[in-house]
Amino acid sequence: MNIVVKESYEEMSSACAEYIGEYIKANSGKVLCFAAGDTPLGILQNLIKMQEKGEINLASMYYAGLDEWVELGYEDKGSCKQFMEDNFYTPAKIPVENIRVFDGKANPDEETKAVLEFIKNKGGLGMAVLGIGMNGHIGFNEPGTSVDFAGGKILLSESSVTVGQKYFNKKYNLKYGVTLGIKTLVESEKVVLIANGEKKADIVANSLKEKENPAFPASYLTTHSDYHVFLDNAAYFKIKS
Ligand code: F6R
Repeated sequence: MNIVVKESYEEMSSACAEYIGEYIKANSGKVLCFAAGDTPLGILQNLIKMQEKGEINLASMYYAGLDEWVELGYEDKGSCKQFMEDNFYTPAKIPVENIRVFDGKANPDEETKAVLEFIKNKGGLGMAVLGIGMNGHIGFNEPGTSVDFAGGKILLSESSVTVGQKYFNKKYNLKYGVTLGIKTLVESEKVVLIANGEKKADIVANSLKEKENPAFPASYLTTHSDYHVFLDNAAYFKIKS
């Protein structure tokens, strides 16, 4: 496991985008998978700037969805689909045929099958860029999810539903998510975990110190041979102490 710690969110985002950019340059045609949400926004913006400067070609890659709120689609503010399209796929001019994300309004089992098939047909996941929830979830793999779970519909924890309200402009009664499973994520050639802010310090420390503990889904990544963690100082400070 390789941990990179930067002073601020901006520095962390730029360092991580550089790292992903180098991967893109050397691995055209591989499948990337990005978490939606607050943490990756700076990275996605940096990647678009790098493309504008002619440093990388984002359309040379394929993109698989990581997760979605069941019942939410592009038209719902806060859906992963809307976040990724508006903040990345559209401004980065990624051809639609290079993208397969989850449609939260469609059947979750069929969506999972389609996203997993897309990944398989394109040669497997090259790099997964994951955020971490306040309760330790990665994608929507909630604490307690089996390491053998390849993906599918999942009952959301109370924490995920409550914290998730920050993305929405109205109150939803969400119960389920659909996600790539831990098994699929650990099979990715490279895994990147990103976190910032003091509020994530405890969960980051536990998720990196523990090994394969179902209470901390990200702890299954610690034994991955190509695992890279990008943090700001605030998210790192409990690891130091
Ligand atoms: C979203 C996802 C989630 C988030 C996590 C952290 O696609 O996979 O696991 O990465 O909830 O969200 P933020 O970055 O908003 O704190």
